[in-house]
Amino acid sequence: MDQLHKKTQHITKLILKASKAAREETRGDGGYASSGGAVKWPVECTVGPGLEGAIACESKVGYVNGVKGALIYRGYDVFDLCAYSTFEEVSYLLLYGKLPTPSQFEIFKKKLAQHRNVSDTLRLLMSFPVENMNPMAALRMGAHFLRREFSTIDQDDHKPDSGDFIGSDEDSIAMETVPKGSKRAIYEFKRKKQRERERDDGTYNPATGYGPCYSLIAGTSCLAAAIKRVREGHLPIEPRMDLSHAANLLYMMTGKEPSPEEERIMDVALILHADHGMNASTFASMVVASTLSDMYFSVGAGIAALNGPLHGGANEQVVKMLEEIGKKERVKAWFDEAMKEKKKIMGFGHRVYKAYDPRARILLPLAEFFGGKNDEIAHMFEIATLLEKQVVGKLGKEKKIFPNVDFYSGMLYQSLGIPAEMFTSIFAVSRVSGWTARVMEYLENNRIFRPRAIYTGTFDEKYKPLRNRK
Ligand code: SDX
Repeated sequence: MDQLHKKTQHITKLILKASKAAREETRGDGGYASSGGAVKWPVECTVGPGLEGAIACESKVGYVNGVKGALIYRGYDVFDLCAYSTFEEVSYLLLYGKLPTPSQFEIFKKKLAQHRNVSDTLRLLMSFPVENMNPMAALRMGAHFLRREFSTIDQDDHKPDSGDFIGSDEDSIAMETVPKGSKRAIYEFKRKKQRERERDDGTYNPATGYGPCYSLIAGTSCLAAAIKRVREGHLPIEPRMDLSHAANLLYMMTGKEPSPEEERIMDVALILHADHGMNASTFASMVVASTLSDMYFSVGAGIAALNGPLHGGANEQVVKMLEEIGKKERVKAWFDEAMKEKKKIMGFGHRVYKAYDPRARILLPLAEFFGGKNDEIAHMFEIATLLEKQVVGKLGKEKKIFPNVDFYSGMLYQSLGIPAEMFTSIFAVSRVSGWTARVMEYLENNRIFRPRAIYTGTFDEKYKPLRNRK
């Protein structure tokens, strides 16, 4: 067990207690649907607007069970990963499909630490009015500036050479009706020029492959911290190579080395947000990657999608909502009013979970833990639990509306010194692991995403010159 877990076994106990309760509560909710091996494409599925129900690909990266309220990363229950693992180890697991050996883990952590040095990128980013920008817009710009080290590879000798494709299946009219051609397009690069430039300090800097993943996982956390500092009128803080990913993120944001509890709780929050099936931002990243663009553009697309209030930012709204309620005596009246106005309660409901979001089950006791150390959080936590009782009491059974990942995460981030406007950037800092892992997996059997639309427009319209139009 590593030093951090040794010092924070009381946090591990909270996680194991919440996990045990969840498993007991959901024991009767069926098992996990397994595909039973490779998928035989094309598959049948019923598709609604917004691709609801559509099956876009197969994946081993992660699994979400909305009925049971379960979340699995590469076969491991997220409860166990929160209890025993770390964000770096979970990022390795998502990217490579297995837990690292001690030597693999040391190399991986070293590579992540080396990619924290983003001073050139920060110089570029700070030439823009970051302090007045939407933090996610700044983060997305920063992610693209990280690409600068590889932009020299845009010259032809590094682009995927079309002659390298050994098999591809073009979309064609025939595909619009009956899926023909090979079951799926297989773009496999036999890179003639797979050049992995080793820098003289031995850092790993390939133009392709996993290098951009490390650069983005490590770089976005440093950029988010710097954006927070600049927005507060301070200069960014240099990263520390000796701290863990979670500890360095907090250190660069606050200027203080976090306590073991703060580091551990940040780490668990990063684990919980790392991957979540084919959510909008993950899908956006994969669509961009499927055109053979590159990882920086893909992660930029993920950040852009997560910026939308239907996907990211609910935890910021939750904190505002709890502050608006103000005191526990007002919870019921506030909720009744919200129901009358048919309002959606932030931090509740989910497209997939029709059960308690497993991530909320872990974040609740962690928020309560901080409540024990901070009266303001204790007050907010008390209002939150009373509101949860009202919402689940009224909407749980009938509409399967339960707390989601955003309901308790906001107050927890606030306790760590993270301001509300940075909550979604922290979500992105974690989800970069899931975005890059799923992009790397999809590119192994790439097929450009090209869904269809049902045309409901007219035909045979006659063109009328402008002068004749009223
Ligand atoms: C995330 O995809 C992912 O995995 C996303 C995510 C991830 O990790 O990537 O999990 C992160 O996005 C978490 C969700 C954060 N957003 C919020 O907390 C905002 C509040 N939630 C709602 O906007 C809503 O629940 C959604 C958008 C999250 C999901 O909506 P759905 O499943 O599409 O449900 P719906 O809008 O079709 O609603 C179904 C019914 C409706 O009532 P009726 O019209 O049938 O009478 O449930 C009601 C809705 O009004 N409903 C709610 C509600 N959410 C749905 N009623 C009150 N409060 C709510 N929060």
